[in-house]
Amino acid sequence: MSDNKRIIIFDTTLRDGEQSPGASMTIFEKIQLAHQLQKLGVDIIEAGFPVISKGDFEAVNQIARQVKGPKICALARAKAQDIEAAAAALEPATNKRIHTFIATSDIHMKYKLKMTREQVVLQAVAAVKKAKTYVDDVEFSAEDAARSDPNFLFQVLEAVISAGATTVNIPDTVGYSTPLEFAQLIKSIKDNVPNIESAAISVHCHNDLGLASANSLAAVEAGAEQVECTVNGIGERSGNCALEEIVMALNTRSDVFGHKTRIDTKQLVPSSKMVESFTGINVQPNKAIVGRNAFAHEAGIHQHGVIANRGTYEIMRAEDVGFESNEFVLGKHSGRHAMKLWLSRNNIRLADDEVAALSESVKSLCDQKKRITDSDVFAILKETQQEA
Ligand code: KIV
Ligand code: ZN
Repeated sequence: MSDNKRIIIFDTTLRDGEQSPGASMTIFEKIQLAHQLQKLGVDIIEAGFPVISKGDFEAVNQIARQVKGPKICALARAKAQDIEAAAAALEPATNKRIHTFIATSDIHMKYKLKMTREQVVLQAVAAVKKAKTYVDDVEFSAEDAARSDPNFLFQVLEAVISAGATTVNIPDTVGYSTPLEFAQLIKSIKDNVPNIESAAISVHCHNDLGLASANSLAAVEAGAEQVECTVNGIGERSGNCALEEIVMALNTRSDVFGHKTRIDTKQLVPSSKMVESFTGINVQPNKAIVGRNAFAHEAGIHQHGVIANRGTYEIMRAEDVGFESNEFVLGKHSGRHAMKLWLSRNNIRLADDEVAALSESVKSLCDQKKRITDSDVFAILKETQQEA
């Protein structure tokens, strides 16, 4: 188990999350969400990419003015114009960071940047130095780090730290890495970048292979201090590491990780719901932590177990992540124990044979309907009373 240090939660829902196709938010929504992220307890809010549009500039600027507590961060390519826009947008913030990036993988340098390795190092260093003229806290990201030549990556990181970068971010930009491989990359950075102690190591994992959370956790075990993530895991393509997953994994398995975060976990579901409603992107029912089924039990055997002791089939409590309670779904697979619990939660008393009959009626309805609601059960009860 690692030492009990605090992992920095860097939320990029408003920047990388908004890069999800169709996820654009209005300035008003972004400000509301930034206030919610503050309530959630994130350490850093990446509020946007000011150079890309007037709207993004304005949103970062308003958030910098209004949201106090978390550090407010703005993204900038390693270009003077971007850094100037980021600095101007962040001007009203009391606690701020400029995040600048350039790609370090051969494929990106050759086909996208059309730059040599030497040019990339020079531009990265110049960007960090320029950002330092505005703020003390500068994060540098080596875009596509996971597919970069590690020796070149070490060289870039050493140069940007010497130039004043206080955080170095290691993105798995295309979600290509695997947990073991990514952990080894973090470890190799610690072993091969001589001045690494002068900067915090951050990770930023995309979810193309569904491994964003696993890769981020593996990086934490290898010594990463900051995790970049988004609420509901929204982001480019298959998205980013999901904030709720990383936070609850660190909380629930503190025996393995030994780390904590500042997150108020009861705000996870409200944050998730706000992101769903602002972006129009709903989480799938089986989404870990915040999905509608994450704390729902349907099988009779499971329901019986949970009623006897929640620990039988629950490793977290629904209430701790912001749901009102766990749920016992009345369905084809549920049993009399769940029906009895539903009746008692609704203050209805029935004899055992009536409970059994009601369970059977609910099961029959399940052959015609995917999900049974409370109103369905009330309707069956009414019908039964009328028949009696
Ligand atoms: O995925 C990525 O590489 C990024 C960087 C800008 C950090 O979003
Ligand atoms: Zn990203």
